[in-house]
Amino acid sequence: KLIPTVLCGGAGSRLWPVSREGHPKPFIRLADNQSLLQKSFLRGFSINGVNDILTVTNRELFFQTEDELAELKLKNIRSNYILEPFGRNTAAAIVSAAMYVKQEFGDEAILLVLAADHLISDQDAFRAAVDKAVKLAESGRLVTFGIKPTHPETGYGYIEANGSDVVRFVEKPEAQVAQEYMDSGRFYWNSGMFCFRVDAILRELETHCPDVVSSVQVCLGASKELSGEKQKQLSLDADTFRLVPDISIDYAVMEKSNVVSVVPCDIGWSDIGSWAALSAVGESDENGNRVEAEALLENVKNCYIKSEERFVGAIGLENLVIVDTPDALLVANKQYSQDVKKIYTTLKKND
Ligand code: GDD
Ligand code: MG
Repeated sequence: KLIPTVLCGGAGSRLWPVSREGHPKPFIRLADNQSLLQKSFLRGFSINGVNDILTVTNRELFFQTEDELAELKLKNIRSNYILEPFGRNTAAAIVSAAMYVKQEFGDEAILLVLAADHLISDQDAFRAAVDKAVKLAESGRLVTFGIKPTHPETGYGYIEANGSDVVRFVEKPEAQVAQEYMDSGRFYWNSGMFCFRVDAILRELETHCPDVVSSVQVCLGASKELSGEKQKQLSLDADTFRLVPDISIDYAVMEKSNVVSVVPCDIGWSDIGSWAALSAVGESDENGNRVEAEALLENVKNCYIKSEERFVGAIGLENLVIVDTPDALLVANKQYSQDVKKIYTTLKKND
């Protein structure tokens, strides 16, 4: 049995001011009015035989998440939720997911971990990649999905492949190292999706980060479960969850394990890490502008303009990102759109 497991956490600070604590990146709606989270749900349910889905998210986002799923009007599905009192990073989220699924569906159930904030444009290629991953996962491998790198991004994990075996997994290398990896032609980006049998991932977690496993176990013992016919919720106990180490699955397991595999894939993947990346998705007008606002443009080229309420007039601009919300306005050079994170972080500090 395959259980798509959607990890939905993190504020997505580089997409401020639309993405923020109460309204993180997975809830951003694209031009087709579907959110990134809804697209992730649909991706999970598009796989043959899937009728259960598990979402691991912050409990403050529970109602919002439930609404997003309900809006899709899917029939004959069951939704499972693990609700965190606060984020403890992806290792903790995956341990609790694996333990939950083990208890509900057994040792041999397979988790397909999906990020809640990615875009995948080729659904057929995605499903074909999942088929391959499931075969490897059935034999006990921890499977990653490899994306051909296009630039020396330092925000990603890098996978050195030898056939489907992973020789090396390096999370977020320095710029120079990332460049070397890219030039070598032997590396893929880690997409952030994973596929593994529940017993396999728990065994590797136990070997490489036993503290995370034991502390989550304690937390699950103290946590409350609510169950209905079409839905189950496990709400994690805050006092014990606080004691779980804050580490990502990439550092905790993927860098260390010897049973990692990769399925190289060309699925139109984008992690929408910045406004520039978001503006590159979908249609632009003949001047390279993406406009999600009521606006009049004069001599404007290669700009992304989004406004929730106010009308925008723009004259003589090039390569800018302009994002207006009721309480904050962002104006940035597209080239620097990674630095939006700095503004978010400073604002949060002064909060
Ligand atoms: N439930 C929950 N709780 N989800 C979380 C938490 C948490 O504490 N922390 C992060 N997530 C979710 C995010 O919402 C996202 O969907 C996914 O887990 C990955 O977390 P990120 O914080 O976005 O990780 P990253 O972008 O730095 O790095 C990962 O993704 C890259 C590709 O986008 C790594 O796996 C890299 O190796 C990979 O290249
Ligand atoms: Mg990310």
